[in-house]
Amino acid sequence: MTHEGERVEALLAGLTPQEKAGQLTQYFYFTLPGEADPALGVDAGEQPREVEAALARGGAGALLFVTDPAEINRLQRLGIEGNRLGVPVLFGFDVIHGLRTIFPVPIAMAASWDLETIERGQAVAGREARAVGIHWTFAPMVDIARDPRWGRIIEGAGEDPFLGAAVAAAQVRGFQSGGIIAGPKHFAGYGAALGGRDYDEANISEYELWNTYLPPFRAAVEAGAGNIMTAYMDLNGVPASGSHWLLTKVLRDTWGFEGFVVSDANAVKNLETHGFAATPAEAASRGLLAGVDLEMAVSEPVYVHLPAAGIDDAVDVSVRRVLAAKQRLGLFDEPYVDEDRAREVLADPAHREAARVAARRSAVLLRNEGDLLPLDAGALGSIAVLGPLADSKRDTLGPWVFDFDLDETVTVLEGIRRAVGDGVRVEHARGVAVSQRTYPSMFDMFGGNRPEDPAGFDEEAEFARAVEVAAAADVAVVVAGEHQNMIGEAASRSSLELPGRQLELIQAVVATGTPTVLLVMNGRPLDLRWPAGHVPAILDIWYPGSQGGHAVADLLFGAHAPGGKLPFTWPRTVGQVPMFLGHTRSHEPQHQFKRYWDEESTPLFPFGHGLGYGRFTYDGLTVEPATAGPDDTVTVSVDVTNTGQRTSPEVVQLYLHQRHGRASRPVRELKGFERIELNPGETRRVSFTVGPRQRQYWHPAVRDWVLDAATFDVWAGGSSSATLTTTFEIREP
Ligand code: BGC
Repeated sequence: MTHEGERVEALLAGLTPQEKAGQLTQYFYFTLPGEADPALGVDAGEQPREVEAALARGGAGALLFVTDPAEINRLQRLGIEGNRLGVPVLFGFDVIHGLRTIFPVPIAMAASWDLETIERGQAVAGREARAVGIHWTFAPMVDIARDPRWGRIIEGAGEDPFLGAAVAAAQVRGFQSGGIIAGPKHFAGYGAALGGRDYDEANISEYELWNTYLPPFRAAVEAGAGNIMTAYMDLNGVPASGSHWLLTKVLRDTWGFEGFVVSDANAVKNLETHGFAATPAEAASRGLLAGVDLEMAVSEPVYVHLPAAGIDDAVDVSVRRVLAAKQRLGLFDEPYVDEDRAREVLADPAHREAARVAARRSAVLLRNEGDLLPLDAGALGSIAVLGPLADSKRDTLGPWVFDFDLDETVTVLEGIRRAVGDGVRVEHARGVAVSQRTYPSMFDMFGGNRPEDPAGFDEEAEFARAVEVAAAADVAVVVAGEHQNMIGEAASRSSLELPGRQLELIQAVVATGTPTVLLVMNGRPLDLRWPAGHVPAILDIWYPGSQGGHAVADLLFGAHAPGGKLPFTWPRTVGQVPMFLGHTRSHEPQHQFKRYWDEESTPLFPFGHGLGYGRFTYDGLTVEPATAGPDDTVTVSVDVTNTGQRTSPEVVQLYLHQRHGRASRPVRELKGFERIELNPGETRRVSFTVGPRQRQYWHPAVRDWVLDAATFDVWAGGSSSATLTTTFEIREP
């Protein structure tokens, strides 16, 4: 046994059953502005006292939600002194898209299709987190999401398992290179919640589970993720947090995962709510035996029942995993954090620059009629910047951030002002009120989260003023979308419309005749049917993070070109949901596109769509060899040329379709991508390899991965609507 292993074993041997249960318990620790918060179901005043008492008796092996290094040190000391053997406390937190330096929201980062940028972003987040004393993040969220009503679509990489797997692995590498453990979540199937309603059950066929929902988790495990978080909901009738099949058979026995598993918040206790356990004690046993090593609890953890459960061997296995994680993090030697160094790391200007680059690369140019963008700042006398999101710092950051610095957050209005300087008049009008959510957000308790209109806001007068400002300007930039508290956890929506009177504002601005640019601030596709037919330029900027305003200005005025691509299919209307690329075909071909009589059956924008400031042509598509055996790898190559006038990025995409075989296969599946940048007139030959791993699929009757001998269609291009096509053949063995 290694020295490390011996240390863990010695500790394990010395712990009492109660202390072992403590090692398997993670408490939320928070102090909130208010006292009791009904939304939380716990007394926010009592909660810290309960946790400190647990720490003091060695009953809390891990905490979450503390981010202040001094506070982390204080609690760490309490924890270490509280248990006889001085086992350090593990601190976890939701570092989702940055800690102090806020990057674009995860769906935006995925839209960059730029794995280096994604990895770098999470490396920065990891570095900042570790500097303040956080050891582990509950991220990345790698749940495939095909229903934009589900608010948590914003936290993932969208609809596609191939892109999702690549993005998951890049994030794991990034976080862990920054010094913290990554915890991919929520295992598994959470994104398929019925009706997009958060926490509702998911019923996923085996075919979809293996081919669509599990691949990003597997990729995250292969990338070395040290932790996995379970999911709240029932998966095919069994709570994911109590599923031995998921947490042990698939995760450990099939994929060889060696890290520790944490439950989602209160999810072990809630096995009783599901009706999967009769008592809290039974919930504890069933959770642990299914494979949940560490219970995350808001309060009153059920793992206190473990010492009496008679499953000591299983408990030891879990404690060993948690101790091994602490050991690997170096906490036995260095449990405390250097507060001065934390301040330095958080202030690192290189982090801000990385966030600006990421925001630039995430933006997706959805439409650009007549090449309205980029704007020539030198030729403009005035710009109208309109909409309630245009100058909202909190919205610019997006949801799932807590430790941001509002002062240094750059809004679109500020970014534009800074970019054009004094020579151009920039006038701002909100135009419409902040449209509140119908129900309060569960994050409103954190203060500063809920959008407010300025005192005395008169929407009629402000609307009229906005239209006047637009009419008098050379160009109008409208920022529209959802407030950040309208999306995220517990923020599902039954509609995809622009909230409030924003569409009306866009229509009135366009009617002035002033050339109009729409900037969409969002984390889910919204109903843009009217703008997509009437607003010449539409740039999806997502929630772009602390440097968002600068990044947007970089793109608007052409210092850089946009190159992001949609990581989901953009439906026209909520009635088409779910709508995604990888569906199969049925019935005669002429009926394929006639699924609704009152709406097109095509999306508003296809998966992978996104324009640049260049023009890209694709030709010379080849597959070598054109006929191959089942275990062979073929190479697909294509020439990409920028025939436009400007240097521009492009994401070259490869799609496959298996024409026939033992199952119906999706009409098109993403199987390769590469983000490149080409100067005007430049051509690059881009190659992808397609091996058995890209061609295999999980077969529901065989109950295993299969490879068919078949003809494959291949497309290469700048979106899933690519037309350049060829084929290759896979022979029988
Ligand atoms: C969410 C998790 C999150 C946890 C801790 C839960 O409600 O589902 O994604 O990591 O809270 O904040």
